[in-house]
Amino acid sequence: MVGTYLGRKNCDFHVSSAETFSEDRTYDCVVACAVHGWVSLSFQQFVAKILRLLRPGGVLLLESHELDCHPEWAEQKRFLLGHFDLLRSGLIDDVDEGMYASEMREYLVLRRKSAITP
Ligand SMILES: C[S@@+](CC[C@H](N)C(=O)[O-])C[C@H]1O[C@@H](n2cnc3c(N)ncnc32)[C@H](O)[C@@H]1O
Repeated sequence: MVGTYLGRKNCDFHVSSAETFSEDRTYDCVVACAVHGWVSLSFQQFVAKILRLLRPGGVLLLESHELDCHPEWAEQKRFLLGHFDLLRSGLIDDVDEGMYASEMREYLVLRRKSAITP
């Protein structure tokens, strides 16, 4: 339905939790916007799940609020960079003014390395 609405014939849309989503195929791209802090998986489990869904060389766009404010973010970023090459990173303005202490969201565009280890 969403694909039809957007006029996209090359996209499938599934509604699922990150925990239960399972597919035999791999994808060119995974987009995770302000999600990793909300799932019941640890960051490492969440990234391992993404790695199973992403083809080697595939791209992950990961972003969230105030990443630098989280004490665990430095370690999580190190973990990510063990599995991905960083293509680009930066800050984008959050439209939810006043909802968070900082209105900036950090994003990383990462390319999956060929070898899969977790
Ligand atoms: C802070 S909102 C972010 C919404 C939107 N992606 C954005 O960037 O503004 C957190 C999102 O995580 C989703 N979410 C929460 N638990 C989830 C789970 N277990 N699996 C997948 N998505 C989940 C919620 O439905 C919600 O859309």
